[in-house]
Amino acid sequence: MIDLYSDTVTQPTSGMRQAMAQAAVGDEQRGEDPTTNALQTQIAALLGKEASIFLPSATMANAIACRLHTKPGEAIICDERCHILNSETGGLAVHSGIVPRIVHGQRGHFTPEQVAEQLTLSGHYRPITTLLACEQTHNAAGGTIWPLEQLQAVCQAAHERRTGTICQRVSLPRYRAVCTAEKLLRRVEDCV
Ligand SMILES: Cc1ncc(COP(=O)(O)O)c(C=O)c1O
Repeated sequence: MIDLYSDTVTQPTSGMRQAMAQAAVGDEQRGEDPTTNALQTQIAALLGKEASIFLPSATMANAIACRLHTKPGEAIICDERCHILNSETGGLAVHSGIVPRIVHGQRGHFTPEQVAEQLTLSGHYRPITTLLACEQTHNAAGGTIWPLEQLQAVCQAAHERRTGTICQRVSLPRYRAVCTAEKLLRRVEDCV
């Protein structure tokens, strides 16, 4: 059995260790690290995007994504057990100054109706919801994978109301497992 519980559990193979030791390196800040550059180019091509950026941790990626997509005082829709809410030491508040609109998902997955309900709540003084977070795979729900149709539907419900979406993806082994399971890498990306 291969334990994919976490990238802190999986061990690099000797081939991976060798590749790391022999990798060409350079000043990444100046865009001169050939290995990082190759990775970014490969991922952008794989996902059909203009560009990609390597970030060394998922917590950092989540913080940056939330900050880029929102302004302080706005709100983000997320599942009650999601990582950004429960396991990032309040990063949503610290880095982005946003409030969570918590929805109760089934195994980490919520519905377009739940999204629409949150987005149609009215009131002058309510924070405006500008972001929806889908955790893929969902950590606290046991590594559950969003069914593609459901992911498409919740993202569509958000986009129809001009709300941005982020799909948090964690650790290459787990992400690969998701994409292999569904063989739908590009289609998953296209939802977001
Ligand atoms: C959904 C999710 N986001 C963020 C993280 C944190 O990852 P990192 O340790 O790379 O910051 C995890 C870790 O398992 C996770 O499952």
